[in-house]
Amino acid sequence: MTKKEKKKVFLTRTFPDFAVKELQKHYDIEIHNGPFPIPKKKLLAKIKNKDGLVCYPYDNVDKQVILAGTKLKTISAFSVGYDHIDIKFAKKRKITIGYTPNILTIATADLTITLILDLLRRVTEGDRLIRAGKWSSVFGATTYVGEEVAGKTLGILGLGRIGLAVAKRAQVFGIKVIYHNRTRLDPKKEKSLRVRYVTQNELFRKSDIVSLHVPYSKQTHELVKLSLMKKMKKRAYLINTSRGKIIKEQDLVVALKRKIIAGAALDVFFHEPISKKHPLSKIQNVVLTPHIGSSSIITRTKMVELTVENLKLGLAGKKLIYSV
Ligand code: DGY
Repeated sequence: MTKKEKKKVFLTRTFPDFAVKELQKHYDIEIHNGPFPIPKKKLLAKIKNKDGLVCYPYDNVDKQVILAGTKLKTISAFSVGYDHIDIKFAKKRKITIGYTPNILTIATADLTITLILDLLRRVTEGDRLIRAGKWSSVFGATTYVGEEVAGKTLGILGLGRIGLAVAKRAQVFGIKVIYHNRTRLDPKKEKSLRVRYVTQNELFRKSDIVSLHVPYSKQTHELVKLSLMKKMKKRAYLINTSRGKIIKEQDLVVALKRKIIAGAALDVFFHEPISKKHPLSKIQNVVLTPHIGSSSIITRTKMVELTVENLKLGLAGKKLIYSV
């Protein structure tokens, strides 16, 4: 490499100006501006001569992509989830992988609580009704009644950083929290957090609201299927702000249509984005948001900064702030 030659970095989608400028100072950068996710063929071609890759959670950075990136030193993921990257293979190739945990805990927990309140009090359902010109009955004793959250039991599947932040917020509203994790917390810790450990089946049986906060993996692929939803109370609700593929989507459609459960609120889907033709878009007892778990200005800005910082450290051969 001559003295002037900069390292090459590829971004699968653009970043805010401040980050692009910062990257341009240090690297020779190329940004994919076409449809996203970037077509695989293009990614394979672009990665060839790059030292660094900045990718989004929907980019499939598999073995083939990693192999094509013969010079690749660092992958910096603009996400807390890294299920879209073949981590094992990347590590084998001595590629460092950055990600953005911690900073999106607040935003994601806030959205989860928002969805719970929205769903139970039928907020967007009411909004849809007005916009469709169907608000006919004013203030009746039984019209548009929803449910109060106080006294309800929230079952958190995966009491990690985000799950715990959801638990704390829920408790403020008078919600009781039970949880299931692969590893149980220390009983003293459970006591101080006011959470009770249950088995996975118990969690689905006993909760009025089940909220999913496990990472996506082979083990959690379509974990929530009809058999599990059938264990839920008829008046129970399912919330998902983690990864869409944790739920068997066609089973959820059945459960909602047949009123096996009372409703669902979903920020993530099996294939994103979903269209208005998607079966879930046609069901009333479901609230849908377009994967906005971490979409607050402050969080997304911090995520961009951290993604850039991880990349810079990785390409300098230094320890990343957060690496997988
Ligand atoms: C992530 O970072 O993995 C989230 O899904 C983005 O909201």
